[in-house]
Amino acid sequence: MSLRVGVLVSGSGTNLQAILDAATSVYEVAIVMSNKPDAFALKRAEAAGLKTLVLLPADFSTREAFDDAVADALEAERVALVCLAGYMRILSAGFVKRFENRILNIHPSLLPAFVGGHAVRDVLEWGARVTGSTVHIVDDELDHGPIVLQEAVDVFPDDTEETLHERIKAVEHRLYPAAIRLFGEGRIRVEGRRVTILPDAG
Ligand code: GAR
Repeated sequence: MSLRVGVLVSGSGTNLQAILDAATSVYEVAIVMSNKPDAFALKRAEAAGLKTLVLLPADFSTREAFDDAVADALEAERVALVCLAGYMRILSAGFVKRFENRILNIHPSLLPAFVGGHAVRDVLEWGARVTGSTVHIVDDELDHGPIVLQEAVDVFPDDTEETLHERIKAVEHRLYPAAIRLFGEGRIRVEGRRVTILPDAG
């Protein structure tokens, strides 16, 4: 039975596209949810014939109430793994608890360096020579949970935020589907902060 994945987006959705393009019998995207009605990612989901849902934070009185509604919608679709793909919101503790060890995030830096919403810009401002991409399990703290996959990307002297982000995204588009497949194959074991990738049984 294939892993039912719920993808949360806020923006252009190139990672969503990579996840869709790489889908095999191991996983399927059951629903794409956005907090932004104009996210281009929603167009990609619709083009792929997927169920989409937009919930607006402004329609809820608290962050917890909003996150509860998102979690309810994911559970209604029997989602077993939640993937944050450019989802620019911090999840409440209650949401993380409901999907404990079943939420992945992709972040455009080599965590724990450069957490937060402007990682690529921050790398350039800091003058770092190497950055990269990280897929990690989401816990209660921002960009903090156990690291599943990580890959480095060199920073070039003439990089702009756009050129560097583009090279990072090229890596992300390989890394994220690979991490979801590993999860679907039951090959990710988490002990404290350490993640072990189990060998391929097949
Ligand atoms: C990706 O680079 C992702 O790593 C980043 O947003 C981009 C979304 O692109 N996420 C964060 O910065 C989270 N802190 P996409 O919408 O084209 O997939």
